[in-house]
Amino acid sequence: MEVVLEAVGLVKRFGSFKALDGASISLRGGEVKALAGPNGSGKTTLLKCLNLLLRPDAGSIYLEGSEVTAPGVDARLVRQRVALVFQEGYLFSHMTARENVLFGPLKVRRLPRAEAEALAAEALEAVGLDRSLWGLYPAQLSGGQRQRVAIARALAMEPAVILYDEPTSNLDPLGAEEVAAAIVELAKRGVTSLVVTHDAALIAELGAEVCLMSRGRVALCGRLEELPALAEAAGDGELARFARALAGRLGKARVVPVAAR
Ligand SMILES: Nc1ncnc2c1ncn2[C@@H]1O[C@H](COP(=O)(O)OP(=O)(O)OP(=O)(O)O)[C@@H](O)[C@H]1O
Ligand SMILES: [Mg+2]
Repeated sequence: MEVVLEAVGLVKRFGSFKALDGASISLRGGEVKALAGPNGSGKTTLLKCLNLLLRPDAGSIYLEGSEVTAPGVDARLVRQRVALVFQEGYLFSHMTARENVLFGPLKVRRLPRAEAEALAAEALEAVGLDRSLWGLYPAQLSGGQRQRVAIARALAMEPAVILYDEPTSNLDPLGAEEVAAAIVELAKRGVTSLVVTHDAALIAELGAEVCLMSRGRVALCGRLEELPALAEAAGDGELARFARALAGRLGKARVVPVAAR
């Protein structure tokens, strides 16, 4: 598959501090990658740069073969192609679930109403939100349901890539499971995705390669189980400790059968 999104050597400064210090990553069509790393290593900053919510100070981003960091590129169009789903979802509180999802196709993409409605319904179905909930307002929905609406809203824009920033971390275990199932379902359907997460169960279900960020760079990528050894081999003791803790969560997350207790 062709590379859909590629970042090369991104640098992002906040004052004299470099939040990104030569970060590079790429995603092929239909590929799903997880991105993890210690707090403050630059994961959110990288996602925000990838959809031009933040302008990198140096480096290049290519979307479907064109450089979007080139002068004169309309950032709004890039944001329509590279969807970003935040931890908190950020739905419009005065709109129902369905209206939230309909907004982009109808008002931003200006599609004919029937086409927009079909896209919205398809997206809400894809994330597994029961039809009985489509007319409810965000305040009437659970956290997991709200997050799935946020994912449907991104999906209805038919983006080239969906970037998720810790989509399950604010949720209770049930909500996290619902949202993880929705992300896995979209991944199976071939939606190119980059998922920032420390949810080992989600990483395992996605069967995704994991990239680890450290101090503003994407330091290494591999299977969850092989990350500790890769980080050791790279001579980064701190990242190796992080990788062991992350990989170790997978075992701990498994539920012990009642009879075995
Ligand atoms: N707008 C900003 N102004 C100043 N510093 C910032 C800004 N945004 C991020 N930073 C700094 O950049 C670094 C990277 O932040 P970022 O949010 O990308 O990390 P992260 O890997 O997503 O962390 P976390 O796991 O806590 O979400 C941090 O040290 C943070 O304090
Ligand atoms: Mg973050």
